[in-house]
Amino acid sequence: MRYSILLAVAAPLAAVYAAPVRRQDRPNIDVTILKFADVLEQLESEFYQKALDKYQPSDFTSAGYAVPDLAIEQLKVIQQDEATHSTVLQAGLAAVGEQPITSCKFNFESALTDVATTMAVARVVEQVGVGAYLGAAPLVTDPVILQAAGSILPIESRHQMMLNVFSGSGTAIPSAFDMPLSPSEVLSIAAPFFDGPCDLGVPANPTLAITNEGAVGPGNKLTFKSDAINGTVSEDKLFCQMLVGGSPASITMPFNDCVVPDDINGPALIFITADSQPLLGNTLDRQTNNGKLVAGPALAFIDTQPQMLGQMVRPSGANSGSTSQTTQTITPEQASKIISGASSTTEGGAQPTGAPVNNGVNNGGKPNLAKGPSADGKIDVLGWSGL
Ligand SMILES: *[C@@H]1O[C@H](CO)[C@@H](O)[C@H](O)[C@H]1NC(C)=O
Repeated sequence: MRYSILLAVAAPLAAVYAAPVRRQDRPNIDVTILKFADVLEQLESEFYQKALDKYQPSDFTSAGYAVPDLAIEQLKVIQQDEATHSTVLQAGLAAVGEQPITSCKFNFESALTDVATTMAVARVVEQVGVGAYLGAAPLVTDPVILQAAGSILPIESRHQMMLNVFSGSGTAIPSAFDMPLSPSEVLSIAAPFFDGPCDLGVPANPTLAITNEGAVGPGNKLTFKSDAINGTVSEDKLFCQMLVGGSPASITMPFNDCVVPDDINGPALIFITADSQPLLGNTLDRQTNNGKLVAGPALAFIDTQPQMLGQMVRPSGANSGSTSQTTQTITPEQASKIISGASSTTEGGAQPTGAPVNNGVNNGGKPNLAKGPSADGKIDVLGWSGL
C-alpha cells in the first residue's frame, strides 16, 4: 500500500530531471544530495530490518516495554518507510540516468546487542535523519526536488518522536525547533556504522564520542574521545560547544570543563573547537565559520523532563522512576572501538554496554559497569551519544 505513493513522489523527481531544458541546468549538487539521502535511507532500512529479524517480543518485555508488540508494530512501519524512501530516491535518480550508490556496507553489530541499545541508537538515527534533511534543504537548487525531498522530513520527525516515547525517559516533543546537520556533520555521526569505504562525495567531520561512565545530566562534566583530539592542539586550548534546537548559537565551555547546563531538554549537538567562537545554529553559516572545528558533533539526548506517555509505554525502561537525568554515555574503551570502526568479524568488538546506570540511589554514585540491561530493567544504556 505504501508503494502506491511511490510514483506520486518519484514522478516529480523524475519529471524535473527529464525535462530537457531544465536537465541541462541540472546542478550536480542536487544529484549528490539525493544519492547521499538514499544511502542514509539504506542504512536506516537495513538497521531496522536487522533489529526486527533479531528480536522476539520477549526481548522487548525484558527491556521494560509494557506491550512488546506495540514497539514492534511501530518499528515495522518505520522500517517500511525507510525502505520506501530509498526506493523512491533511487527511482528518481535512475529516471535521469544517474546511478544510486549501492556499494556501501553497514555494520550494526554493536547497535544490536540488546533491545535497549537498539532503541537508543534508533533514537539517534532518526534525529540524524531529521537533521540531514533539514540541513540539505538550503543546498537543493531545484524547488521541485526540494519539495519532494522535503516531504520525507516530517516522516523522519514522526519516527523520531516515536523513539523519544520508546526511550521511556524522553519528552515526546522536546523542543519547538529542531537542529539542521550539514552532510559532513551527518557523516561524522553515522561513520561508525559504515563498514569499509563509502564515498558519498562529502568529507566527514572527525567523529566525537562522549566517554562518561555513569549517568550524566545537568551539572555533570562531559569527557570525550576523538582521533582529532590527540595533542596536536593542547586540550587547554580546546572548547566544547553545545547546541540545541532553536538556539542561534552554541554555548561555549572550556574542553576540560564541559558541564551540561540545567536548562537543556532533548537532543543536543556537541562539538569540539580550537577557539571560543560559538558555532551558529544554521548549518550554512556554521560551515563558513568553522575553520576551528576539531571534532563532532556528537549527539546526546538530555532527558530532564520525562513524560507520562513514555513511562506508560516503557514503565520499567530507561531512567523511569529515576530522579536523575541522563544522557547517553559509553566507556572510553568503547569509544576507541567505535571511532576506529567496528569490525564485523571481531568477536565482541565495539559493544556498547548497557552499563552506565546510575540512578544516584542504589549504588553510591558509582557507575554500574555490568554489560547489557541491568536486572531491574533500569537501563540507561545509552551507549551511543558518539555513535
Ligand atoms: C590529530 O588531530 C589533528 C586535528 O586536531 C588532525 O589534523 C590529525 O590528523 C590528527 N592525527 C591523527 C593521527 O589522527
